Amino acid sequence: MDSQGMKELAGVRAADDLVKPGMKLGLGTGSTALYVIRRVGARYAAGELKGLRVFATSFQTELECETLGIPHYALNSPELAGGLDLTIDGADEIDPEQRLVKGGGGALLIEKLAAYNSASYAVVADQGKLVSSLGLRFPVPVEVIPEARNAAAGALEKLGASVKLREALRKAGPVITEHGNLILDILFREAVCPAEMETRINLIPGVVENGFFAGGPLKLKGPLVYIGREDGTVDRLWR
Ligand code: 5RP
Repeated sequence: MDSQGMKELAGVRAADDLVKPGMKLGLGTGSTALYVIRRVGARYAAGELKGLRVFATSFQTELECETLGIPHYALNSPELAGGLDLTIDGADEIDPEQRLVKGGGGALLIEKLAAYNSASYAVVADQGKLVSSLGLRFPVPVEVIPEARNAAAGALEKLGASVKLREALRKAGPVITEHGNLILDILFREAVCPAEMETRINLIPGVVENGFFAGGPLKLKGPLVYIGREDGTVDRLWR
């Protein structure tokens, strides 16, 4: 089975196991999260999820919800009142303690807002996302305000990382996030403590958020991780 097949297995299983009628549900971003969204859309259309209220973590997710007729709301709306029952999202890397790197799609700021304001949190991924240490292979994104680009890059280098400004595809120049910021992709030369780095990076002036999801500033609940495997099975990992 290829990685898309594994992503679909994990996404469909999580949407079937975890999503219940009446929930305030955060829906993540990316190709694996799309399988969750589509399954939730199908279940909603079949009348299985009455009273569902969704928070979309990106423009991509919002558009997909609109296409599928899934009711979605702002996090500040009276319907959601700043809190969620459950968020399901993808990840770029998952370590043995189920700590994550996220933000490959540049949506880390709102994805983290959803994750840290959800009573429970689940991650869906293919087995290729499992690593022994975070931040050594897949870059950790750091969202910075444009004015902080050089100063923040210097501070991140002092933390032991190499830094690269994320370039846009099919548009000249850098990626501009949905909040008008830039993304610095960083790779560490040696293994780091993800929770400590999550906190330390956010102390750099001009940094808005970073892609470590390790329970640094708040205690991240879970996550429950669904891993689609090459042999067609799905593992559920829980710390
Ligand atoms: C977007 C994310 C995604 O969840 C992450 O990049 C995984 O993406 P995919 O499921 O396409 O591999 O964090 O900001």
